[in-house]
Amino acid sequence: MTAATTTTKTAAPTQAGNAYFFSGNYAALTEEHDIAALDVVGAIPPGLSGTLYRVGPSPRYAPRDDNYHWFTGDGMVHAFHIDGAKVAYSNRWARTPKWQLENEAGRALFGSFGNPATSDPAAVGRNSGTANTNMLWHGGRLFALEESHQPFELDARTLASKGHQSFGDRLTARCTAHPKVDPETGELHFFAYSPEGPGTPGMLYGVMNSACEVTGLQSFDAPYASMAHDSW
Ligand SMILES: [Fe+2]
Repeated sequence: MTAATTTTKTAAPTQAGNAYFFSGNYAALTEEHDIAALDVVGAIPPGLSGTLYRVGPSPRYAPRDDNYHWFTGDGMVHAFHIDGAKVAYSNRWARTPKWQLENEAGRALFGSFGNPATSDPAAVGRNSGTANTNMLWHGGRLFALEESHQPFELDARTLASKGHQSFGDRLTARCTAHPKVDPETGELHFFAYSPEGPGTPGMLYGVMNSACEVTGLQSFDAPYASMAHDSW
């Protein structure tokens, strides 16, 4: 590695009940870096150029309870910029409203899965979005998705956070983390479950054009309220 820059370092110690999701492949990353050129083993295929993004949960602070699950960790976004002979790397936490609130406090405020019984009173009723599930590149814009909140936008080059997006107040509650792009039209098809709140049977189905404009939005009631993670 060369030109590593650590901009943030925060330990995320574990409690006994949380050990599984803090070990092995689940282990949290606790630093942010900008690395100009990663060490490359072998050779980069000729002509390979572009950026690979990924996201996963890396809790910034130690959980408040022993029911931590990787679904509830703060989203850490990674970018591998591949350009001919070298690969540059950056990673940043998505600075969500939750991340910012806890950053100001210097500790975790939200209980696992937003459990009010284990949350600090300062967090109850606040946006608990983590932007930790999936990356979306659409309309020349980069988003980190998590199905219980609006898409969270980041700068594609610097990974600077731009915040949750409502796309002209059309997406006001939540959006699936697994929308699908129609390869022929370039349109994004997305849905949301329980937009009126947890346990409600409503569903949204929408279409967004390649300029990130919501061109269609329908709502209907499902036969019963349920978590709908993906759709084909
Ligand atoms: Fe998923």
